[in-house]
Amino acid sequence: MNPPDIDKTVEEAAFKDAMSQVPAAVAIVMAEGGEIGAAGFTASSVCPFSASVPSLLVCVDHGTQSHRAIRAAERFTVNFLAEDQRDLAVLFATRGADKFDAPGVMRSVGGPPWIEGALASMTCVRHFASDVEDHLILVGLVTAVRCKGTNPLIWFDRDFASPVRVG
Ligand SMILES: Cc1cc2nc3c(=O)[nH]c(=O)nc-3n(C[C@H](O)[C@H](O)[C@H](O)COP(=O)(O)O)c2cc1C
Repeated sequence: MNPPDIDKTVEEAAFKDAMSQVPAAVAIVMAEGGEIGAAGFTASSVCPFSASVPSLLVCVDHGTQSHRAIRAAERFTVNFLAEDQRDLAVLFATRGADKFDAPGVMRSVGGPPWIEGALASMTCVRHFASDVEDHLILVGLVTAVRCKGTNPLIWFDRDFASPVRVG
């Protein structure tokens, strides 16, 4: 795909520096991709897509090992992590790691894996998928939600953190 005809984009480093100052929720996106098996990765490019049609948008780098399984799966889970789940965030951001024996990583028969104790775990059915540049963009319709009222894990200033209320 050709890049759009626009003025030259900023340098990657400048973009990353700017984005490092923008906090993001940390999620683990998981799927059971048929013959490919279970897969999951840590993601911050995850956000609500529509509230009136409850749905989430997820961006998956083609360079991840997980992307083929996520692409192949009809259903996936988005597990927004709690502040005490930093170790799981690090594990699922590690390529080639043995991810599915870790405590809190749950498997369900006929459904996608999920993370126990997450801030919010949402099951999604794939509604839209398209490749743009080096990423797969997914929109999933949310068919189930499981919530735990606790503090979130966030990604800020190139590190994991948890927010503090003000005022
Ligand atoms: C805080 C954080 C956020 C990340 N967000 C994304 C993301 O939104 N999309 C993505 O494809 N990779 C993201 N990554 C990178 C993947 O987690 C990483 O490439 C991981 O190794 C992929 O695992 P896999 O290759 O086993 O699938 C993120 C990593 C971290 C630490």
